[in-house]
Amino acid sequence: MSSQERVIIFDTTLRDGEQSPGASMNTGEKLRLAIQLEKLGVDVLEAGFPAASAGDLEAVSNIAGKLQRTEVAGLARTSKEDIDQAWQAVQHAAKPRIHTFIATSDIHLKYKLKMSREAVIDKAIEAVKYAKTLTDNIEFSAEDGSRSDRDYLCKVFEAAIAAGATTVNLPDTVGYAVPEEFGDLVKYIMAHTPNIGKAVFSVHCHNDLGLATANTLTAVQAGARQAEVTINGIGERAGNTSLEEVVMAMHTRRNFIPTSTNIRTEYIHPTSRLVSMITGIIVQPNKAIVGANAFAHEAGIHQDGVLKNPMTYEIMKPETIGLSANRLVLGKHSGRHALREHLKEMDYDLSDEELNVVFKRFKDLADRKKHVVDEDLEVIITEGILRTAEVFQLEYLHVTCGTTVLPMASVQLSINGRTVRGAGYGNGPVDSAFNTIAKLTGTQSELLRFTVGALTGGTDAQGEVTVRLRENGLVALGKGADPDIITASAKAYINGLNRLEYLKTNPAREAVAV
Ligand code: KIV
Ligand code: ZN
Repeated sequence: MSSQERVIIFDTTLRDGEQSPGASMNTGEKLRLAIQLEKLGVDVLEAGFPAASAGDLEAVSNIAGKLQRTEVAGLARTSKEDIDQAWQAVQHAAKPRIHTFIATSDIHLKYKLKMSREAVIDKAIEAVKYAKTLTDNIEFSAEDGSRSDRDYLCKVFEAAIAAGATTVNLPDTVGYAVPEEFGDLVKYIMAHTPNIGKAVFSVHCHNDLGLATANTLTAVQAGARQAEVTINGIGERAGNTSLEEVVMAMHTRRNFIPTSTNIRTEYIHPTSRLVSMITGIIVQPNKAIVGANAFAHEAGIHQDGVLKNPMTYEIMKPETIGLSANRLVLGKHSGRHALREHLKEMDYDLSDEELNVVFKRFKDLADRKKHVVDEDLEVIITEGILRTAEVFQLEYLHVTCGTTVLPMASVQLSINGRTVRGAGYGNGPVDSAFNTIAKLTGTQSELLRFTVGALTGGTDAQGEVTVRLRENGLVALGKGADPDIITASAKAYINGLNRLEYLKTNPAREAVAV
């Protein structure tokens, strides 16, 4: 392998990542995340699956119209209709890509597609040739590739490249491969596909056995030059390969994996936070690179070593991924100008009207909390700007509780712009708030999970609540933050209800299962 060859980072947080149970994002949230991913330096961004729903098509189209440097890909099955919709969504991107796929394993052919191997090759050729009439930038994926017959895979890839594919992708769709086997498969395909040199070889791994990062890195060592990843490793079931793990492994172990990426690592941590905030999916504390404990040293002997020289126990510097102890904090005396400048540094270029909304929320928070840090501002932007078009909004909450009173909540909501108010009882303050909100919204969701944490350190930190709700088979996550934990709970619940509303009007991807 020549030294420092570049690996293309293909981010699919907005497509495969959004397939995480309950992780739907609205159009504004997707656009914000896409802008952040471009800043992070991803080479290709898979913005969605336009044929899945009108909402997906619209979101992909918005993103395509916004990004300048990053390629924008739209996913499509091998049908003309899917490819047309993907093209409709990405065509006005500065760098559009069509990503078409069909399964190649015998089990998928027999039970899902009910097609012969020859028919699948013909379909792949037909799809790539059709896509080629629209763009030169075509990726072809052999779904369930890792469980497909090796020689058949080589034939499929050879045919796809001959038809015009510029990237061929080998997915480990069900997370079944183990590193040595997967690396061997990559080498085999590269050695036995005559025209493989005309395309970029890509891999796409799932994490069902916790091996997605290892499989991806082994594939890179075997010659793959595109890695498909998501932020925080979110995605179907156990998720996808995590961007931060692959990128930081390459960065930290350059001597062993002599490859580089275009990722600006200092944006890894802020991007991870944004994804968690927007999707409601909590990052496990011991998650490599971005978990809350990833740079925390508990054992005395470790702490002592780190104080003497951080490299005794730290293989990466926290600053490299954008974790800095010297964060700029704002307080109640900070003015509009300071706030605008700081938000610009965080890459939020707000209109005057948006700044007014954020400034008011910032002042309210600064009255209750001495130091307002980046995490707080992100919550303000997410709740105040990105979620404004939502059906249900909390306008007022008052809760009485204690040892001698029956917990009671008075709530005022705006429902599609109409104000409603009411009161109700419950077992405790959260229960009474949720019961009242459910009554006012006429919803009947079941609360599957309720988690409370703190957004930052310190006793005045904002409480951060995540809920998981189910209604009529639809599952959604909701997230809310506030210095008052009951208000944070109500916000999270309302956010979850809004996501359920979104799912009701945007049929889930399962309806067009891949
Ligand atoms: O996991 C998979 O096979 C996929 C393909 C659509 C690339 O996500
Ligand atoms: Zn996948």
